[in-house]
Amino acid sequence: MSSQKQPDQKDILVVYHSSDAPMEKWQEWLSRLDPRIRLVALDDEASHQAEVMITWSPPYGAIAARPHLKGVISLAQGVDHLLDDPSLPRDIIIGRLIDPFMSESMAEWVMLAILKQHRDEAAYAAAVPRQEWISLEPRIPSDYTVSVMGIGAIGGHVAEKIAYFGFNVLGWSRTEKSIKGVTSLTGDEGFAHCLSQADYVVSVLPLTASTRDIYDASVFQQMKSGAYFINCGRGLQVMEDDLITALDNGHLSGACLDVFRQEPLPTGHPLWSHGKVTVWPHVSAQTSPITAAKQVLASILAIRDGKPPVNPVDISRGY
Ligand code: GLV
Repeated sequence: MSSQKQPDQKDILVVYHSSDAPMEKWQEWLSRLDPRIRLVALDDEASHQAEVMITWSPPYGAIAARPHLKGVISLAQGVDHLLDDPSLPRDIIIGRLIDPFMSESMAEWVMLAILKQHRDEAAYAAAVPRQEWISLEPRIPSDYTVSVMGIGAIGGHVAEKIAYFGFNVLGWSRTEKSIKGVTSLTGDEGFAHCLSQADYVVSVLPLTASTRDIYDASVFQQMKSGAYFINCGRGLQVMEDDLITALDNGHLSGACLDVFRQEPLPTGHPLWSHGKVTVWPHVSAQTSPITAAKQVLASILAIRDGKPPVNPVDISRGY
């Protein structure tokens, strides 16, 4: 809902657009920190005077149409939804969220996906309606390897948490990282090693030109037989038909997916009803103004002052 009232001299106008959370919620949490902040929706005339936009997935052209904008803050960890816009001015400043709460949420979600398999949750749950008191062979975490593809600011936290549970953890990233309990690998060889060794392949990669469509038939084939695939990066990285083939021919034991090529996942899509797939509706790390407002405000003020936002994005790198 846009308030069309004339901006006050003292107001700091910020364009808001997100299909994820109502503007009022962000307004409330930002106002608590700085009463000058006034969020305006895209359809509010005043949005054309704003110097900063905070957004999740704005329509193409919305940024270019506002020449006063100095910068844009993504209300998400990823920024592919901004960089995909062909009209995006290449000199615009972009900030993204790296929120400890979101990194922790993602780590929780990945651990849930791993532990459900590791602890045979499905088999125990299936025994309950039969009132069967079953006991399966216990598994020792150190006998299992988890490869985390993408161990940057967020994936690195996920990898560290997995290591804390006692699994062997390999992590792949563009540049070498030093993370407690995690073996850091880089390059094509490192990528192949991560795939071939892992019982669980966890993808937290950002979507860039080099990661789009990366999980295809040949990559699934390089994974160890019986591997389990977990994706909380981006859906456009996965060739979903190839994933289904790898599950159907038994090469992969299963998949837990939070992201899809098309979201919401279309009605009737085969992934909804695949017996080896757990579908989540892109909620592994949700943005909350309660935890992120402070960082977003700091970025808004920095951009207005011509300074870099809290987590600046390198547009050429893609994250
Ligand atoms: C969610 O997908 C995010 O990028 O934070």
